[in-house]
Amino acid sequence: MATIALEKLVKRYGPTTIVQGIDLTVAEGEFVVLVGPSGCGKSTTLRMIAGLEDVSDGLIRIDGRVVNQVEPKGRNIAMVFQNYAIYPHVTVAENIGFGLYTSTLPKAEKQARIQEVARSLGLEALLDRRPAQLSGGQRQRVAIGRAMVRNPSAFLFDEPLSNLDAQLRGQMRIEIKRLHQKLGATSVFVTHDQVEAMTMADRIVVMREGRILQIGAPMELYERPIDVFTARFIGSPTMNLLPGALASRDGADGVALEDGGAFVRPPIALTGGGGGTNVLLGVRPHDLVLTGSPDAGAFTLSGTVAVVETLGTETLVHVDIGRRSVIGLAPGRAVPVPGQRVTLAADPAALHLFDAATERAFPRPLLQQP
Ligand SMILES: Nc1ncnc2c1ncn2[C@@H]1O[C@H](COP(=O)(O)OP(=O)(O)OP(=O)(O)O)[C@@H](O)[C@H]1O
Ligand SMILES: [Mg+2]
Repeated sequence: MATIALEKLVKRYGPTTIVQGIDLTVAEGEFVVLVGPSGCGKSTTLRMIAGLEDVSDGLIRIDGRVVNQVEPKGRNIAMVFQNYAIYPHVTVAENIGFGLYTSTLPKAEKQARIQEVARSLGLEALLDRRPAQLSGGQRQRVAIGRAMVRNPSAFLFDEPLSNLDAQLRGQMRIEIKRLHQKLGATSVFVTHDQVEAMTMADRIVVMREGRILQIGAPMELYERPIDVFTARFIGSPTMNLLPGALASRDGADGVALEDGGAFVRPPIALTGGGGGTNVLLGVRPHDLVLTGSPDAGAFTLSGTVAVVETLGTETLVHVDIGRRSVIGLAPGRAVPVPGQRVTLAADPAALHLFDAATERAFPRPLLQQP
């Protein structure tokens, strides 16, 4: 398996710079997920790694070797696309075998290789079928099989699950993850979907407008987003953000919230003197819990229940506070009703704080492990 390194990688189309000098090293066997909004350069980056697009500036190394000028087939990298182009008129075995089209292996060895790949993907019983006789998930596995059969040293996936329905997506997510655990193949996976990113990645790379904003393990990004964009992108429902300003009261530095006027001390080393700086106080819905008796020192918000979402595993409450609405969690089976006055509480250690002007996070001490 290979390492992939991008060094100050740039892509320009005419006067427009699409990828603005990104640095990223994917370790051997690592599963890295690129996420970001439409048009931020995810596919372009992947296509440069595969050799399907020229590099405008910077370097791509595979196992240390610069491959900028190497043809796609010389890179030994397999790419799986959203519109997996499997051929409708030939069997599953032949579709998988297309991956070996240019290979000089003897026929018997090709057959053995197809069998082996089919076995690892659970397609053995379907080898004689044609794509029309397969489910969407099975077709997707055939496309992955065609990529696997060449024994690539890395896999690139460009939104391979986005054409599937929600249930199948969930299944394929697990299948790809299982496959990765079995093969340990270096993988770069592109998606819009933060759930896919959180559940599949060893590390997530958040991209925006051709730049990398943040790289980290899923929980690192969840717990320590470095700016408002990552904070809102990772985690569902989205983090609540409440406007306020840095202030001092009774000799303590904290945040005075705009609505409701509450004064909060987040777990951030505020150096004082920043009084008046506009900030956004962030709290994730799952950290903001409906309670009748908040702990002493808890961060609390009180308001009126607007909407209750009963999801089975949990109940989310949308609470109107002044002109704003926040989302919190109703624990257990307690279901409040719209119009009810409630109090939501969070451990101050779970709060996030961002500068409203730059949208950057204030450095946050690591949460204490219990
Ligand atoms: N051949 C091209 N010529 C000019 N501009 C291009 C070309 N290909 C892509 N672009 C532009 O480059 C930008 C990045 O495109 P890219 O396909 O990498 O985005 P993406 O992050 O994969 O988005 P999506 O999530 O929608 O797939 C877009 O603004 C796109 O319009
Ligand atoms: Mg794309």
